[in-house]
Amino acid sequence: MGLFDRKPIATADEGGTGMRRTLGAGDLVMLAIGAVIGAGIFSSLGTAAAGETLADGTVIRYGAGPALVLSFVLLGAVCGLAALCYAELAAMIPQAGSAYAYSYATLGEIVAWIVGWALILEYAVGNVAVAIGWSGYFTSLLSGFGIDLPGWLTHGYWNVKASGDPAIRALMDSAPHIAGIPVLVNLPAFGIVVAITLLLLKGVKESTRANNIMVVIKLLVLALFVIVGGMHIDPANYKPFAPNGFRGIHQGAAIVFFAYIGFDAISTAAEETKNPQRNLPIGILGGLAVCTLIYVIVGFVATGLVPYDQLRSSDPLAKALSIAGLSTASWIVAAGAVVSMSAVLLVFQYGQPRIFYAMARDGLLPKFAAKLHPKTRTPHVTTIITGVAVALGSLLADDAATYDLTNIGTLAAFAVVCIGVLVLRIREPNRHRPFRVPFVWFVTLGGAGACVFVMRGLPSSAWKAFAIWMMIGLSLYFVYGYKHSVLRRGNAPVSPE
Ligand code: ALA
Repeated sequence: MGLFDRKPIATADEGGTGMRRTLGAGDLVMLAIGAVIGAGIFSSLGTAAAGETLADGTVIRYGAGPALVLSFVLLGAVCGLAALCYAELAAMIPQAGSAYAYSYATLGEIVAWIVGWALILEYAVGNVAVAIGWSGYFTSLLSGFGIDLPGWLTHGYWNVKASGDPAIRALMDSAPHIAGIPVLVNLPAFGIVVAITLLLLKGVKESTRANNIMVVIKLLVLALFVIVGGMHIDPANYKPFAPNGFRGIHQGAAIVFFAYIGFDAISTAAEETKNPQRNLPIGILGGLAVCTLIYVIVGFVATGLVPYDQLRSSDPLAKALSIAGLSTASWIVAAGAVVSMSAVLLVFQYGQPRIFYAMARDGLLPKFAAKLHPKTRTPHVTTIITGVAVALGSLLADDAATYDLTNIGTLAAFAVVCIGVLVLRIREPNRHRPFRVPFVWFVTLGGAGACVFVMRGLPSSAWKAFAIWMMIGLSLYFVYGYKHSVLRRGNAPVSPE
């Protein structure tokens, strides 16, 4: 048995999972907007536009400035290619575990493990970033009520350490100290993750109806931002348009890529989609096109409202409105952002335990992670582990660093999925594919190449952290998964060559 053995594919037709095909293209567009719009546009937009500089003047990344709109267009195209590849595999391999499951079936066990390990970055680390963004907006919402939480309770230690803002750096000294260590914690971020975890343990999950309500709220607050902010644009703010040239557009795209994460989740609805060959590409590409358009307009207004370097904050849209003197609108946008990001937190806190569950069921993680609660039938053990890890991360982490790590892991998983589509087309050309990627060589190789290109816009700290993460993952695989794999132990048939 080799490292690249593949798990056999049970297709929708063969496997007979019995789901009803009820979703049309319009439903998929709504699902995409629900999973996608969150901290990326409400928070990471600030760093993407303004860039990031350390206290000692070292530039971590160059900002796109008003040319952020071009970063959004670039990302729309990159994600479009990856999304088509997801659609082909999702329609063909309707198994829990998303990209992890697709990789197991196409490229083999070790690649699946690497992708599963990278998906922890997308889901769990991604949620640390969303929780910190949530906290930024929640804090500005509270100040609207005249409640000002002290800075040492709303900024995690690593966030303060990485900050180039002298006011935030000063918290190192002004925070209370215990045994000489400053107490710097992001309490609201911690609290929301604990609350969402408790909800999930009760068996709450996303429903189409709840999703549609969230989508409407998201669209309304973004529309408010665009209309009110749009009336206060100062054209002088657009000059210079691209202060750091293509380097800024590229590095801005690499962080604001976070705003696009989540469309991969809708490809998993492939089995429940009516006429997937037609509706999946319309839904996925339509959803991406709508989000890209919204992002371009929001980016255009945000960078026109205030000078782009004033957007560096975890609540840039509310901050921009408040700098422009629009405090009521700022407050409403903050409230809408809090709701939108709670929905994203729920989707990802829901997804991560299920990926762990799929990996444990295959024997790559310990058996206890594959336990289901006897009453709620939810993977409660992995839900608690995810909740604790994400809550602790949210308490201390730096938002920009977590965006970077999430993005690099997600882009790596996207690139593997693109290659997986091509490999399976070559290995099993006659397999039934409910949806086929058009121009397969261009879309798959172009998609993988484009993901790697966006990854290259991330700072070296992200690459180092990613390399360490992957080394830990591979060590775990050889110490545990390699020996306990259900496939390797012969409890499941190996896919025919
Ligand atoms: N795309 C999601 C967000 O921006 C993860 O919050």
